[in-house]
Amino acid sequence: MPIEKFEIQPLFAIPYARADLGHAITPDQIDYVKNLKMVRNRDNLISENLYIFEEPELKVLAAAVQEALDRYARDVMGISQKLYVTQSWALMNPPNVGMHAHAHSNSIVSGSLYYCELPEPVSRVFFDRHTMYRQIELNPENDRRNLYNSPINMITPKTNELFMFPSDINHMIEANGSSEPRRAIAFNSFVKGRIGDYRDVSELTI
Ligand SMILES: [Fe+2]
Repeated sequence: MPIEKFEIQPLFAIPYARADLGHAITPDQIDYVKNLKMVRNRDNLISENLYIFEEPELKVLAAAVQEALDRYARDVMGISQKLYVTQSWALMNPPNVGMHAHAHSNSIVSGSLYYCELPEPVSRVFFDRHTMYRQIELNPENDRRNLYNSPINMITPKTNELFMFPSDINHMIEANGSSEPRRAIAFNSFVKGRIGDYRDVSELTI
């Protein structure tokens, strides 16, 4: 007798959020970020200034990012504490250059903001749910991949979009297949407020 009832249910899921910040992106801010001094990262270029959202020239953009982080804290994480931007920087991938796989330490939520026109074809961001060495790799067949079993998932960013994800997920950017530079702003965040529980002696105010 074949089994008549066989259900698959999620236990947990990893979220990400995307928000259109087009209303807060102005030509002056685009010029300011494009003209920041860039230095060599590993393969791509990164701004020398790693706290760019503290610059008065980017006040409007920084406020919009804060609003999006507030939404993420409330709607995605369901927490009452505040997320605030720690470091923030500009990135530029020249043609044929992507970004190696990495995660963001000492951060809770990280974000990428595609503040100016993304060149076509748009390089995708790949996420790898496994952050550790795996002695046994049981990967699904290609035509049987789904949200539960895929080791990798990806997104295609859009111009003006802010994309936010948990900082501990490994991610990489595929090589820029266009003839134009691919530009983005990235940032980390941390939490402010009271966490833990007084009676549990786990209370911490940060
Ligand atoms: Fe990153």
